[in-house]
Amino acid sequence: MTAVKEERPIGFGSLKRKEDQRFVRGKGTYVDDVKLPGMLHGAILRSPFAHARIVSIDTSAAEAHPKVKAVITGKTLESMNLAWMPTLSLDTQAVLATDKVRFQGQEVAFVVAEDHYSARDALELIDVEYEPLPAVVDPRRALDPDAPVIRDDLEGKTDNHIFDWEAGDKEATDAVFAKADVVVTQDMLYPRVHPAPLETCGAVAHFDKVDGKLTLWSTTQAPHAHRTLYAMVAGLPEHKIRVIAPDIGGGFGNKVGIYPGYVLAIVGSIVTGKPVKWMEDRSENLMSTSFARDYHMRGEIAATRDGKILALRVNVLGDHGAFNAQAQPAKYPAGFFHVFTGSYDLEAAHCKVTGVYTNKAPGGVAYACSFRVTEAVYLVERMVDCLADELNMDPAELRMKNLLRPEQFPYQAKTGWVYDSGDYPTCLRKAMDIAGYEELRKEQAERRARGELMGIGISFFTEAVGAGPRKHMDILGLGMADGCELRVHPTGKAVLRLSVQTQGQGHETTFAQIVAEELGIPPEDIDVIHGDTDQTPFGLGTYGSRSMPVSGAAAAVVSRKVRDKARLIASAMLEVSPEDLEWEKGRWFVKGDPEKGKTIQEIALAAHGDLELPEGVEGHLEAQTVYNPPNLTYPYGAYICVVDVDPGTGHVKVRRFIAVDDCGTRINPMIIEGQVHGGLADGVGMALMEFIGFDEEGNCLGGSFMDYLLPTALECPSWELGYTVTPSPHHPLGAKGVGESATVGSPAAVVNAVMDAIGVRHVDMPLTPSRVWTAMKYGSVEP
Ligand code: CDP
Repeated sequence: MTAVKEERPIGFGSLKRKEDQRFVRGKGTYVDDVKLPGMLHGAILRSPFAHARIVSIDTSAAEAHPKVKAVITGKTLESMNLAWMPTLSLDTQAVLATDKVRFQGQEVAFVVAEDHYSARDALELIDVEYEPLPAVVDPRRALDPDAPVIRDDLEGKTDNHIFDWEAGDKEATDAVFAKADVVVTQDMLYPRVHPAPLETCGAVAHFDKVDGKLTLWSTTQAPHAHRTLYAMVAGLPEHKIRVIAPDIGGGFGNKVGIYPGYVLAIVGSIVTGKPVKWMEDRSENLMSTSFARDYHMRGEIAATRDGKILALRVNVLGDHGAFNAQAQPAKYPAGFFHVFTGSYDLEAAHCKVTGVYTNKAPGGVAYACSFRVTEAVYLVERMVDCLADELNMDPAELRMKNLLRPEQFPYQAKTGWVYDSGDYPTCLRKAMDIAGYEELRKEQAERRARGELMGIGISFFTEAVGAGPRKHMDILGLGMADGCELRVHPTGKAVLRLSVQTQGQGHETTFAQIVAEELGIPPEDIDVIHGDTDQTPFGLGTYGSRSMPVSGAAAAVVSRKVRDKARLIASAMLEVSPEDLEWEKGRWFVKGDPEKGKTIQEIALAAHGDLELPEGVEGHLEAQTVYNPPNLTYPYGAYICVVDVDPGTGHVKVRRFIAVDDCGTRINPMIIEGQVHGGLADGVGMALMEFIGFDEEGNCLGGSFMDYLLPTALECPSWELGYTVTPSPHHPLGAKGVGESATVGSPAAVVNAVMDAIGVRHVDMPLTPSRVWTAMKYGSVEP
């Protein structure tokens, strides 16, 4: 790993994470640590079938269990008008099944008991009679006229079609394809994977009948949005709902949506009058909560014979499972997939995306991916390698030839996105230098001569993060702007209140660093409050790497408001005009007389004291803001992966991985490195082993960590990182997001490396030994 030089040591820099003081001592408080007096425990009965009609449910034996306090079924919920809830994509999802079950693991009944074990035991006493129906497992069959209709609950629905959506210019793209020297077509699947956070999902609901207040501790990445949705769904007054996200053990998109379990804990508390905890186990999390990807893509790339890429055309079939519960801004049913033109200067591009229902778990979340950018990057970076293969050209040379040049920014892509800033060739060159690219190619040739399979894979990605400008982006009508409040107490210590919610990204540290940078208050004197709707301003939450682009900007803006106010107060203290004051980190002083000045701490005390304040200035040193981002930020990076493939077994060993990221201004390089390390491990996992499969009856084959494989340190090399800094011109700090960059950029680098090693054009992920071996032997693998 290369050492990272701190470019701005005061305020910004590799400060150790403040939150680790509690985490390394085991003093974090997660939802399952919440214990309330008289608390009951809930458990969910789930469907063993992927598709079946519910004939009857007999709960009498469970109700007779001595420790059971309530058994709730779809019928109970129907009477409360809560059997169905809206999804984030304006579909509906059953909280508990009333008519049919539509995926294996679907919620059928909820037991509330005195303890967790009794609740689980009582599930076995519930007798459900099912009438099994044929399941739709393959999305490519979902639109067949004779396919069983999954969503017959929707009025007039006679097929499994959800939406068709397109972006770009079809005619212009077809015209460019017609004149191109070379066209390469490739089908590829980005398989269904799961965010698999360390902490599964859960909630503790406490409905206080006396004051009518609901307090919900839950595993949520978006406490404010959840509160509003509960108010809409349950009809509870919004000000009587308090959502608390305590410490969260990883989210990766898995904790963006609202799950039936959360609603059931609330109903359980309302019905029993006691607090109710529901915490799912690992299999429940893998089988029933939001998956990611599951995109069947056909890519076509058009180019000249000498390697100028002209156009891209893509057709996608998106498998959305039984309910369309994708989490993304409302206007984008395929997320930001239409950023698939990637980092290249094209003449034209077009994509069409069709969403279908299948008998699988709903979701379609960002798994550390900003709304389908991962699929888009994988598509374009695989297509570029397929083209390099067709043209017999070095993939680095092909990329260099086609990357956007610095002078083209801001750059409007052919599908509408306006990339804010970038210097792509410098980034790729840097990665190639760290890798020693030319020497690696020589080594590869020597090894090949000895019959060894070494591969070098490149990927260059452009991310689109920081959702988003309010006029373009909303979730269920809620605009994606973030509030922020800053108070400086009389003694100069500060508290920053944020709407975003950390799940391990280190917000308590980096957001304190932003205030420190702007006001000169040491980071240890600044507390960051988040994750509690009663204590923080409204905002849409943390996902899609939006914290730094949106709330980070809000933190800078609110600090600057405080600084401006401090200037007015300092002018009264020093009896000079505000214009005569100059700022240096931590104090205002009189221009030309640096000795005469007031520190921010002195000003804070004066703001609370008997000083006669200038007209229009209220007392106390505090401010608030709502930040509506003018555009997304576009971080990018160049990744190079070196693999060795065992010719006998097809086993892939990732030998080296070089990642050069550009996220604009870097607040905390150490945290950025941690984010990149995690994302790279994610990428290796997806490329080589992660996969949720289903048999033809819709049985989930990835319901435990025995089947759903996650990468460990053994599968990961020692990452080699580098960076460049191209600030975002529209972000007050110049910062772009970084949390998801590595997950987005790395899978294509690994797959490109393996294809390079085995000399096969394309094999779908995961590149397990058997799939690689089959591809080496037969040239391809059946999808
Ligand atoms: O939304 P999320 O926190 O997952 O992603 P992010 O905004 O990309 O930030 C991830 C972490 O990296 C946060 O703790 C940020 O403060 C930090 N970061 C940074 O130090 N500098 C940047 N330019 C971007 C992120």
